[in-house]
Amino acid sequence: MQLVHTAAELDAALAEARAAGQKIGFVPTMGALHAGHLSLVDLAHSYSDVVVVSIFVNPKQFGAGEDFDRYPRTLDADCALLEGRADIVFAPAVEDVYPADLEVAAKQAGPVGSLFEGAARPGHFDGMLTVVARLFDLVRPDVAIFGEKDAQQLFLVKAMVAAEYPGLKIIGAEIVREPSGLALSSRNRFLNGEQSDIAEILAITLATVSQLIHDGMEIEAALGIGEEMIAGEPETKLDYLALVDPGTFARVGNGYTGDGLLIVAAVVGGVRLIDNHQFQI
Ligand code: PAF
Repeated sequence: MQLVHTAAELDAALAEARAAGQKIGFVPTMGALHAGHLSLVDLAHSYSDVVVVSIFVNPKQFGAGEDFDRYPRTLDADCALLEGRADIVFAPAVEDVYPADLEVAAKQAGPVGSLFEGAARPGHFDGMLTVVARLFDLVRPDVAIFGEKDAQQLFLVKAMVAAEYPGLKIIGAEIVREPSGLALSSRNRFLNGEQSDIAEILAITLATVSQLIHDGMEIEAALGIGEEMIAGEPETKLDYLALVDPGTFARVGNGYTGDGLLIVAAVVGGVRLIDNHQFQI
């Protein structure tokens, strides 16, 4: 595994693979890696010959007062986890991603970018798309893997790629969970033991609400039960629990049939967590 920091080093590391026409797989991350990220890296190998993992905490996708400064930076531990798994780790500095002498095009996430996570974190998805596009331009992958936990991010990346990156394949990778059901997240490390137990309510609520809807309960009544389940937990503040059409990310309600994506966001012990579950209605 090769660790590189600059665009020139990345180009040198990829030169042979590019010249040989090998398929390049890409897994963008912000580091603080866990088993969920490693599953993305493993999946990337099944679509490509060479796998690049980027580790970059992107300042443009954090708003004022968010956790940019406290976001865990654990490069040595991340590289140890990636040894034998990734071919190239690209860990650029801010100046390499956004050089002073280059105007990096700012992306706009559009209307879906201001719903749900975008409503809670204004500008987050514009910043996320901006860095993802910049990283695509540097890595020039054939395939890129994103976790399905960040469902709205995956939806927006797919939309941008469909419009601007013909030939680039985007693959969504299944959510990896703790045995308790809690979806893995880099932010879980901020939860103490008790808060971790409380956070299980997100996955339990998704399972309960989707089962109720599957069994025929009206969507809005089932969502109401889910909201009460989360409201009943200590140290927990629900942001949203909603059913959306995964094809448009528009909210759907009573009478809807087809694919449904149940999404939830809540703050547990000061830590913002998201989760989702897709099912047929
Ligand atoms: O999902 C993440 O970790 C980030 O949003 C991403 C895609 C690496 C862009 O910074």
